[in-house]
Amino acid sequence: MTAATDRGLPSAEELRALEKLAIDVAAEAARFVVERRAAELQVTTKSSDVDIVTVMDSRSQELIAARLRAARPRDAFFGEEEAADGRTDQAPPGTTEPAGSGLTWVVDPIDGTVNYLYGFPQYAVSVALVQGDPTVPGEWRPVVGAVADAVAGRVHHARLRGGAWTRTVDGADEPVHVSDATDLATSLVGTGFGYDAAKRGRQARALAELIPHVRDIRRGGSAALDLCHVAAGRLDGYYEMGINPWDMAGGWIVLTEAGGTCTGAQGEPPSSDCVIAAAPGIAEALTRAVDSVVDLVRHP
Ligand code: IPD
Repeated sequence: MTAATDRGLPSAEELRALEKLAIDVAAEAARFVVERRAAELQVTTKSSDVDIVTVMDSRSQELIAARLRAARPRDAFFGEEEAADGRTDQAPPGTTEPAGSGLTWVVDPIDGTVNYLYGFPQYAVSVALVQGDPTVPGEWRPVVGAVADAVAGRVHHARLRGGAWTRTVDGADEPVHVSDATDLATSLVGTGFGYDAAKRGRQARALAELIPHVRDIRRGGSAALDLCHVAAGRLDGYYEMGINPWDMAGGWIVLTEAGGTCTGAQGEPPSSDCVIAAAPGIAEALTRAVDSVVDLVRHP
């Protein structure tokens, strides 16, 4: 979806209010998951033994859904987790509810769930408002995003054409900008791995091909924060094959509003197949490098 598709886009003033809503809701849910972590660490598994969901993922999503529905009843809701209490008005993963407004809230109630389980301080709540259908690559784009870095107490946020910002613990907004890297060989690049053991093996083989061409690799464990780290120049780039719309939506708009690029492999739009995030000076080189290894991950 291109910038030309501004039909149905809320006004600049509305976007500002929607950004504030996203920030407030993400920050509230982040405080909630941090405060309740010690008491509520019940875990079940999803797609594999290492793909976990905690009770707090579900509770966080319920809280976010309740706040957003109260404020914006005509928007659709697309969240990672099913409601723990089985309410039928909650969209299951992979589906969206029909939107009267043409806008959908795409939510990851805890991105970095394994970090959350271990108390490794890299997990976030991501709340984004998107235009288009978030289940179809190329047919949607985020227009507002807030990624609350739960342990640090900061919220990275952006709205379309409004710049990218980090709200500090004392409530000040600081501007966020990508690095001025121009050389892939001296760039710090983030990545991540999926929950399927066979796929992780393929991702590791792709990484082994790529690592000689960069300064070093970081694996933080939260794709939403990885995208915000690129936005803020703490990483020069990031790529991953296999993340979902809820992992990428909030960080994507923070990154692009910070001057970065967010694409898929081989010039495609970002999708679950591949996301490549970069400072503009290395975008082409990183894309070429990822393009050269992406098939190692795609094909068993
Ligand atoms: C995961 C994280 C991780 C990435 C995985 C994601 P979750 O999301 O973003 O960094 O490598 O691919 O699934 O499961 O913690 O919400």
